[in-house]
Amino acid sequence: MTIVKTISEIRALRQKLKGSVGFVPTMGFLHEGHLALVKRAKAENSAVIVSIYVNPAQFGPREDFGAYPRDLDRDLELLRKEGTDIVFVPSDDEMYPHEFSSWVDVEKVAERLEGASRPGHFRGVATIVAKLFNIVQPTRAYFGQKDAQQVVVIKRMVADLSMNPEVVIVPTVRENDGLAMSSRNVYLSPRERQAATILFKALTLARQLRRDGEKDAEKIRRKMTALIRKEPLAQIDYVSIADAGTLEELDLIDRPAVASLAVRIGKTRLIDNMPLE
Ligand code: PAF
Repeated sequence: MTIVKTISEIRALRQKLKGSVGFVPTMGFLHEGHLALVKRAKAENSAVIVSIYVNPAQFGPREDFGAYPRDLDRDLELLRKEGTDIVFVPSDDEMYPHEFSSWVDVEKVAERLEGASRPGHFRGVATIVAKLFNIVQPTRAYFGQKDAQQVVVIKRMVADLSMNPEVVIVPTVRENDGLAMSSRNVYLSPRERQAATILFKALTLARQLRRDGEKDAEKIRRKMTALIRKEPLAQIDYVSIADAGTLEELDLIDRPAVASLAVRIGKTRLIDNMPLE
């Protein structure tokens, strides 16, 4: 496994690679969810490149950029075990050089849900992913369904800007009790960790209601909200039943839809989602 820090180094290595390249962009502090992306990339490509970069541009001024968990040595060990070929670990100066002033702004779909709660977040995500795609030139890029809106935003950007990579979505990996794996789960105290299962419970309720034939999105949102409110440590940011393609809120569920939510458990903001067949 080769570890590189500069754009010129990774470009030189990339040029030598024959066949397809699978790319997994990450912010590190890897868990089974990330490793599922790496495994899938490994199975489908001749070579796998992973990036580890905590992107300051996608954190708001009052968010957890400084506290975001980091453990590069452990990450590199895990990636080595998965047979990763190249790991790109750039610095801030490498990614955002002095006087950096070009941004990728995806409209509409990036303005809802996470975009409304975290202004500027998707501008940061789209810009760094566009830069990484330009640098790595992957055949396929792998993202988790856990960040459902990020996936929709990136697919929109790739289509709108005629980018090359095929975007592959990998199902959410969950703990035994349903909590979606996330680097931020490490912030939870034991009591909060227990309370955090309310997200999965609410999503499971939405799916069950839909399976039982419920088509009224507002009724499902109300029942999810009532369930979450029973958990004293949980504070709802949003509960959404939206069109799976555009993420526009639905009244009537007459097309593929996704239930998604953002809930604060203590000081930790967690998101999760579940497609409603
Ligand atoms: O999903 C993430 O970890 C990040 O948003 C990404 C895609 C690596 C961009 O910084």
